[in-house]
Amino acid sequence: MIKNKELVLITGGAGFIGSHLADALVKDGYRVRVLDNLKPPTHNGKLPDWFNKKTQFIKGDVRNKKDWVKALKGVDFVFHLAAYMDYHLDFGTYFDANAKSTALLYEIILENKLPIKKVVVASSQSLYGEGKYKCSRHGIFYAGPRPENQLMQHMWEVKCPVDGREAALLAEKETDETHPQIPYGISKLAAEKTCLALGKIYNIPSVALRFSIVQGSRQSFRHFYSGALRDFSVRALTGRTIVMQEDANQIRDFVNVHDVISAHLTVLKNKKADFEVFNVGIGKKTKVRDLAKIVCRLAKVPFKPIISGMFRINAPRHSLMDISKLKKLGWRPIHSLEDSVKEYLDWVRNYPEAISYWDKTYKKMEREKILKT
Ligand SMILES: NC(=O)c1ccc[n+]([C@@H]2O[C@H](COP(=O)([O-])OP(=O)(O)OC[C@H]3O[C@@H](n4cnc5c(N)ncnc54)[C@H](O)[C@@H]3O)[C@@H](O)[C@H]2O)c1
Repeated sequence: MIKNKELVLITGGAGFIGSHLADALVKDGYRVRVLDNLKPPTHNGKLPDWFNKKTQFIKGDVRNKKDWVKALKGVDFVFHLAAYMDYHLDFGTYFDANAKSTALLYEIILENKLPIKKVVVASSQSLYGEGKYKCSRHGIFYAGPRPENQLMQHMWEVKCPVDGREAALLAEKETDETHPQIPYGISKLAAEKTCLALGKIYNIPSVALRFSIVQGSRQSFRHFYSGALRDFSVRALTGRTIVMQEDANQIRDFVNVHDVISAHLTVLKNKKADFEVFNVGIGKKTKVRDLAKIVCRLAKVPFKPIISGMFRINAPRHSLMDISKLKKLGWRPIHSLEDSVKEYLDWVRNYPEAISYWDKTYKKMEREKILKT
């Protein structure tokens, strides 16, 4: 293989997606540098044992300009994945870690006239909020959050705002309106707009990738977000009953981490991707109930869940991505949900910490009233 000398910076490269991206880039012959603060909630101050030793590691924070300046020296490409996620109540941190950090990146590129060839920023399906629905009588509308009193009555589906009839989910497109409902999503929207606008004004090729729910090995033990696979797996592997939220018929778009990595590689060198935003999902509907069934089948335990009627305020009822835009650049998700669950189960069995943290995160969700009945 011809050695590629280009240097790639991955912020958040010690985390779930970033560490898989580092592996793939090292394998492709790139020089890789990682900037990560190794702080909770994802880490405990130490590099995880899966971290690729062939990369250069800088311990630093994307909220600090001097850490960015150090990390950006000699870099050709930047993947900005470091982010503050989840449902925490320190709202300001989302904007510092996700939006301000993105502005700092462009500020430094300009100030130092850095010859960065491309910036790719991690965005999120969370931007779409509840998403787009169709009423058979009144047509397409963007749904707001389902009212709490509706959820208290266990009426789960999104309703037409005109006649109150149940509406049908439509897949989210990049051209859709964005209506993020949580600070994380709002800060990601700001990050995405900063990246695309500053990229265009200053002619720095920039791309935003909106991931759906990414699944695979190395998923953080400590986040609530994207937690269904961890929750079901820990319960299945420890003989606990699976407890499902709402009526377990929520639709989600679960994409495999290796497909997300191949999306990064697709946009890295393709000029057609510049100044564009792309959905990165699987583009198929999966009911959360079916995810739990797959977990139980692969963990070899019976599927006997409790359908709890608990719900998360501001969690969308359904979400599904239209992935045709990125497919036009030749990308395809090739892994099934079974592949993701198998990879996750094989990995989590060797991480007793994942199981001990499960209790803590679950109790925190109840304490902070993120879960309601
Ligand atoms: N996992 C998903 O399902 C999903 C879905 C949509 C979007 N995303 C986005 O993908 C990116 C990666 O997510 P992930 O799932 O790998 O999360 P992760 O928590 O596993 O990784 C994030 C990494 O960023 C680092 N980090 C956080 N704040 C930092 C800071 N201020 N300075 C330096 N490093 C910091 C963390 O230590 C961690 O290693 C994030 O931008 C996230 O918003 C993830």
